[in-house]
Amino acid sequence: MKTSRTMVAALAAAGFAVVAPAHGQVTYKAMADALHAVMESDRTVYTRMVVNRLQNEEKVIKASEHFKDDKALPLPAQMFRFGAEMVAEKKMPFSYSLQSLWPVNKQNAPKTPVEKKGLEAVAKDNTKPFYAEETLGKTKYFTAIYADKAVAPACVTCHNDHKDSPKTDFKIGQTMGGVVIRIPMK
Ligand code: HEC
Repeated sequence: MKTSRTMVAALAAAGFAVVAPAHGQVTYKAMADALHAVMESDRTVYTRMVVNRLQNEEKVIKASEHFKDDKALPLPAQMFRFGAEMVAEKKMPFSYSLQSLWPVNKQNAPKTPVEKKGLEAVAKDNTKPFYAEETLGKTKYFTAIYADKAVAPACVTCHNDHKDSPKTDFKIGQTMGGVVIRIPMK
């Protein structure tokens, strides 16, 4: 398996020390794991240090889907999607999204059989990621799915209370969905 210099540069730019194997190549799995480590950390930091602190603890400002009209904080899922959209614009050799088997927004439901299988796998056991290869159109992809866990009380309260949430008994530490990272294979 081969990883291009652009990918390695992307990892380095994301603040991750790229430790290449002796033969100078990063595997698809290592690349996905590294990208996910950055995404998960940023997501947790935003939720704990911004949303949970200012909304739930200090009650200074709320997070809202309509954050512009409401002069509120963007939701953690919106922050995540804005990042994913910016990466897509840069035409980087990977894409990512946040999905769930119990989505507040139906757009975030799994769309491919591999996504569904992966979300089910990480819901059952959130200690290890799910990896698979899938062909979409004419391209073969390496697809990695990581558990998205309730890392702060704000995750649980907001989803359980949301009118569009199909699940209302999320608990702290549980899997609420998954991060899907997709890398085209050369
Ligand atoms: C203030 C409310 C709020 C908070 C806090 C919040 N969410 Fe969400 N979350 C939402 C809404 C609303 C959506 C749908 C956003 C969209 O339109 O895509 C969503 C989307 C998601 C999705 C994609 C699937 C879906 O439900 O549409 C996952 C997974 C998710 N959130 C998990 C979490 C986790 C884990 C946390 C804590 C780290 C968290 N959320 C914090 C409201 C919230």
